[in-house]
Amino acid sequence: MQKSILITGGAGFIGSHVVRLFVTKYPEYKIVNLDALTYAGNLENLTDIEHSSNYVFEKVNILEPEKLKEIFQKHAITDVIHLAAESHVDRSILSPMDFIYTNIIGTVNLLQTAKDFWKDNLSAHRFHHVSTDEVYGTLGNEGFFTETTAYSPNSPYSASKASSDHFVRAYGETYGIPFVITNCSNNYGPNHFPEKLIPLFINNIINNKPLPVYGKGENTRDWLYVIDHARAIDTVFHKAANHATYNVGGFNEWKNLDLVKLLIRLMDEKLGRPSGTSEALITYVKDRPGHDLRYAIDATKINKELGWSPSVTFEEGLSATIDWYLANTEWLQHVTSGNYQKYYEEQYAVR
Ligand code: NAD
Ligand code: TYD
Repeated sequence: MQKSILITGGAGFIGSHVVRLFVTKYPEYKIVNLDALTYAGNLENLTDIEHSSNYVFEKVNILEPEKLKEIFQKHAITDVIHLAAESHVDRSILSPMDFIYTNIIGTVNLLQTAKDFWKDNLSAHRFHHVSTDEVYGTLGNEGFFTETTAYSPNSPYSASKASSDHFVRAYGETYGIPFVITNCSNNYGPNHFPEKLIPLFINNIINNKPLPVYGKGENTRDWLYVIDHARAIDTVFHKAANHATYNVGGFNEWKNLDLVKLLIRLMDEKLGRPSGTSEALITYVKDRPGHDLRYAIDATKINKELGWSPSVTFEEGLSATIDWYLANTEWLQHVTSGNYQKYYEEQYAVR
């Protein structure tokens, strides 16, 4: 059976890298990118591959089950890689319902559509759910998240992703949907919407705007280059056993303030500013409510069982990311006009 893979959220940050990898590496597959093009979806992320003969884009919302059914039929979908989601913690604090609709109900719509469409031969198919390490909640100063760590989400975003993971498992156990789940740490890289820490700070350093560090900047994240995440999804999708879950991470923990200082050092150098100039932009602002202290992934299982490991160091990845933003000012201008300004005001003006 020829593979016809539905990649949801393929116009977003991580999704666009997954789409590109699959379209270019597997010319024998049909890749159907399904995306509602919310504020975070952008077809400019895919201009280099949009005319590939094995690629199709469908503007569809996962909250519309009838349209999902049509897409499964039209393209004879054999597999799903599900990335469509509301993905930003701060927005989930402002509007939790959007996260409940898309991340939970949207995921169940997709599971239900796949279950009905694949019913005659379920075991020939695969539903790969792309999730986050934030479902595990927070760590103290020690320890790592493993695949057996109990779920303990603290934000509306992570609670909605945890719920979607549970529904994927339930559809696997109850109805026999062959699923795999990956829980990945914080991604960074080209095409990242400038609401998350790294692209927001890159944009603000370019424009000499304040860098709003939440609390004391002591929270810690484990950062992974987005292309390495796409490689991990490729690996798990093709090699993992049914009903397996894998944590994906870079063994690359950074306290926010140390990361901001590294970013400033690299950017001042690239922008020809005297070293450390942009440190004056650091502004400590009110902390995020429910702010998880530390995320750290133990990625031993995917490394030992499937042979995946990150391909770039943090400094290489960060340097390539900054170069991408400096070379793609038009992309940055497009995504920071209009509604972005409104969001920025709401999030940061009275912080
Ligand atoms: P993103 O916000 O950049 O992109 C999300 C995409 O989903 C956008 O293209 C958007 O248009 C689309 N979308 C949103 N709602 C939709 C709907 N109702 N119907 C159809 N399409 C819809 O997100 P991202 O950072 O690329 O994350 C992708 C996935 O990976 C998410 O599931 C997220 O939870 C997960 N994840 C993200 C990270 C990270 O660091 N960004 C880490 C681990 C896991
Ligand atoms: P973010 O990129 O939003 O990812 P997540 O919350 O999903 O980990 O934030 C990464 C870290 O940076 C997190 O500890 C919150 C912090 N942060 C700031 O200090 N200032 C900001 O403006 C943003 C967006 C994040």
